[in-house]
Amino acid sequence: MQTIIEPFRIKSVEPIRMTTHQERKTILKAAHYNLFALSAEDVLIDLLTDSGTGAMSSEQWAAVMRGDESYAGSASWRRFEAAVKATFGFEFVIPTHQGRAAERILFSIMCEEGDVVPNNTHFDTTRANVEYQGAKAVDLVIPEGKVPEAIHPFKGNMDTHALEELIAEVGTERVPLIMITITNNSMGGQPVSMANIREVAAIAHQHGIPLYLDACRFAENAFFIKLREEGYKDLTVKEIVAEMFSYADGCTMSAKKDGLANIGGFLCTNDAALAQQEKDLLILTEGFPTYGGLAGRDLEAIAVGLEEVLHEDYLTYRLASIRYLGEHISRVGVPIVQPPGGHAIYIDAKAMLPHIPPLEFPGQALACELYLEAGIRSTEIGSVMFGRTEPDSGESRPSGYARRDVPADMELLRLAIPRRAYTQSHVDYVVEAITNVFERRQDIRGLKLTYQAPYLRHFTARFERA
Ligand code: F0G
Repeated sequence: MQTIIEPFRIKSVEPIRMTTHQERKTILKAAHYNLFALSAEDVLIDLLTDSGTGAMSSEQWAAVMRGDESYAGSASWRRFEAAVKATFGFEFVIPTHQGRAAERILFSIMCEEGDVVPNNTHFDTTRANVEYQGAKAVDLVIPEGKVPEAIHPFKGNMDTHALEELIAEVGTERVPLIMITITNNSMGGQPVSMANIREVAAIAHQHGIPLYLDACRFAENAFFIKLREEGYKDLTVKEIVAEMFSYADGCTMSAKKDGLANIGGFLCTNDAALAQQEKDLLILTEGFPTYGGLAGRDLEAIAVGLEEVLHEDYLTYRLASIRYLGEHISRVGVPIVQPPGGHAIYIDAKAMLPHIPPLEFPGQALACELYLEAGIRSTEIGSVMFGRTEPDSGESRPSGYARRDVPADMELLRLAIPRRAYTQSHVDYVVEAITNVFERRQDIRGLKLTYQAPYLRHFTARFERA
């Protein structure tokens, strides 16, 4: 059979609500043109994020009922710890309420003011947590990774030459760890090859620097390796995952993505002394080390999710559903980051709206139009999220309002697909809406920033029409 289907049937449904164009116009203005400020009931199809928004399986819901809520030493913790160890192979597992809590603990122990952390591309929370320690977050993706239309099977790879140059320039002692984000979310959900992980690990270890994987979308990345990298087509995804993580010294994970859960995360290491320090901090900020910030039932859902996410019929459908959206909108001429990534399609808003300058936020303007057109919520990954306001003085931490605006490298609009939540007809509706917006693209106007917070400004920024 050629048709790739959703490998599940639906047991429980959640109604979604249509609004009128006039209602959406009023709602958008009241939200100051920031889609994070919308009420979710006012959204018809929510592609804001694939994080924590997926549907759990009947096995996960069954596991939820087995949740042991004991404060210490619960059976749910043991099942969770065993599932994480079986999948990733690290010796110590520290549960956290989500990915950024793992990042916060890791960086506050490993980084000092003046350190430098290389990554293929830091995600927003990762960058913010590095910078919060007074360290510098440096993105070293390969040059093809920054060109939306460039085709490359592993566009998320780290530029190993640039990595060696950076280490030589700043000195080994200033680089407390190297990180690889799989898949590379900020640059299109693009995968990283096994060869690249191996090569970065060799460089890191030659300098005595630990390598960490930001593992959020590890299963999608592993499936791309199976499909695209020579020598992996006959291995199971589980075996590929085991090899990927065998090169790393630890990982951070948001179980809200490839953990197939609605909340949760963890931090792993093989270093006993480091694990102890991390647990001490965990107790202070998240909870006792056998639950982190999670309920026993969440630990159970993640334990099952980590196993289900490796099923190849699921991963086949997952990648096909992303590709379906990408192929249909590129067919009508919409410029997207090519090839389609693992969890989302990214429209190149700079190419689609060349009349809107980067500092009038073409990605944000496009997100607003798509909401107005059809009630679809998406998110900007461009100068709102990654643009910077540089301070006049030599302060190392950004601490206030705009002084000098610097745009991001790319102006993207991300359409992230929640796992197992929407059907093909939902995606057909999204394709039609994007096509309509594309046809009237010359009439779309930019936005002006009227408020921003000092960190992670995209969540609470306010805009008006430029
Ligand atoms: N790392 C990556 C690559 C991520 O994509 C995210 C979250 C995190 C870390 C942080 O995890 O949300 O559990 O604290 N990404 C979501 C997104 C929010 O929409 O891409 P978290």
